[in-house]
Amino acid sequence: MGAGIAEVLARGGLAVVGIEVNQDALERGRGHLEKSTGRAVKRGRLTEDAQREILGRVALSTDFADLADCDLVIEAVPERLELKRKVFATLDGVCRADAVLATNTSSLSVTDIAVTTNRPTKIVGVHFFNPAPVMKLVEVIRTVLTEPAAVDRVAALVKDLGKTPVTIGDRAGFVANRLLFGYLNQAAGMLESGHATRDDIDSAMTAGAGLPMGPFTLMDLIGLDTCLEVLEAIHAETRDRRHAPSPLLRELVTAGLLGRKTGRGFYDHGAPKDEAPVQADGPAPVVGILGTGALADAFAALCDRAGAQVRDAAADLADCDLIVEASGDADAGRELLAAAAQAAKPGAVLAVTSATVPVAEAAMASGRPADVVGLHLPDLLSTDRAGALAEIAETVATGPGVADRAAELAGRLGLTVVRCRARAGFIVDALRFPYLNDAAAMLGAGYADPDSIDAAMTLGCGYPTGPIADLDRLGIDRAVAVLRALHAETREPALAPVPLLTEHVTAGVPIR
Ligand SMILES: NC(=O)c1ccc[n+]([C@@H]2O[C@H](COP(=O)([O-])OP(=O)(O)OC[C@H]3O[C@@H](n4cnc5c(N)ncnc54)[C@H](O)[C@@H]3O)[C@@H](O)[C@H]2O)c1
Repeated sequence: MGAGIAEVLARGGLAVVGIEVNQDALERGRGHLEKSTGRAVKRGRLTEDAQREILGRVALSTDFADLADCDLVIEAVPERLELKRKVFATLDGVCRADAVLATNTSSLSVTDIAVTTNRPTKIVGVHFFNPAPVMKLVEVIRTVLTEPAAVDRVAALVKDLGKTPVTIGDRAGFVANRLLFGYLNQAAGMLESGHATRDDIDSAMTAGAGLPMGPFTLMDLIGLDTCLEVLEAIHAETRDRRHAPSPLLRELVTAGLLGRKTGRGFYDHGAPKDEAPVQADGPAPVVGILGTGALADAFAALCDRAGAQVRDAAADLADCDLIVEASGDADAGRELLAAAAQAAKPGAVLAVTSATVPVAEAAMASGRPADVVGLHLPDLLSTDRAGALAEIAETVATGPGVADRAAELAGRLGLTVVRCRARAGFIVDALRFPYLNDAAAMLGAGYADPDSIDAAMTLGCGYPTGPIADLDRLGIDRAVAVLRALHAETREPALAPVPLLTEHVTAGVPIR
């Protein structure tokens, strides 16, 4: 990180002094700088002259005394509090009294570092993301001791460097990691509990939530040891058991399976790639749709696109292969499904779409529980990626082969299919709404403004949209409904919708 940050500063025209522990480490740092700027030259993004100038601005040294003239020092030594405190004590001794000292820590408390220095008012956090030359977000952290001028100077510098500063208080994980790691840990817990497979969870989050990669791919990329450390640091502050590292994550770390860097983590990176799943073929199914309203209309449009025949009159359901209850109303849906179950041919699959009413309840009320599965299309109503993902959930009462048949029929409608157990929120909603609830909690507490929270996730984590924008896009009423269902099922206090969300739903005003 140190080399990356030095490159950012030098590219911004600043004179940089890079300090390392010894000559070998210095050479490694020089190598990073040369390689990274060399890549930019090869890609035509930098001329050789510009590269020479950038490298010329970085003086490398093993002597801390060479920092005596610096206005700002950014520390990026390994993530150990005692080491950081030692480095800051040295900096205190050699740096000018008015110099601002910053730490690039990802998860340690900036305050914990600041209090052992002689200049706590001049200590800030500057959290760059990896790789620093590429990632646009920089979280700027003020402690209760930091003087506003020091924070303003650092934020202004970050802006001058072409990055987006997000200024926030000193809470473990700041914005991006705090929101990201709760979600990643929950995904690990989901895998551990047998709710769904690794591949299905990863596919669900890419195809259904539009994320650039699924949680297990991302954890393998970050490094499972880093994930464990960050979660431990966040948990130490929040004492929220959702941040207590999943036992599976810890086991992988203990076994030395740290992700890409060791060749194996959640995935075996040396193994041959799985073959692409065979696209279901066969005639488009005959689909019955129960209910009227936006959900039923959207599902009918999806069937039309796939060339499937749609039956929406109760009297016409006898030849349907798949009957989808899409009324959007639990009581009405139950009655419609019970009536349809009597009309349906043997072998027809009955699917309930609610992600908030337990599938098993609807299945039992239908009178044909063996033929019932849950079918959830997480983004059917909210994006133009509508229909990309179908989550199919079977209950303990679902008959053998019925979920397979449902998956095949959904495949024939052109959907990407994942499977899970019948639990509130299925996969996508169960993972994304707690994350959105956490973002709303940050907003409600005044920790960060909506733009900062959204920037943290889009610029820091590569999310296509930020959580506050997501809440308005997906609907805060839906968020509250799913969170209530998750809370009712798990009794996990942190899954209850935060007051800010329920207040906005009651008042009928968007969150932004
Ligand atoms: N790697 C990431 O993705 C990432 C992202 C954001 C922030 N960070 C944070 O940045 C910091 C550094 O992380 P990293 O991944 O670059 O670690 P790293 O281990 O790759 O690099 C740390 C460097 O610090 C040097 N060092 C050790 N003791 C030193 C000392 N006393 N004085 C000067 N240099 C010393 C080491 O020689 C090494 O080159 C950590 O606080 C980490 O949490 C890392």
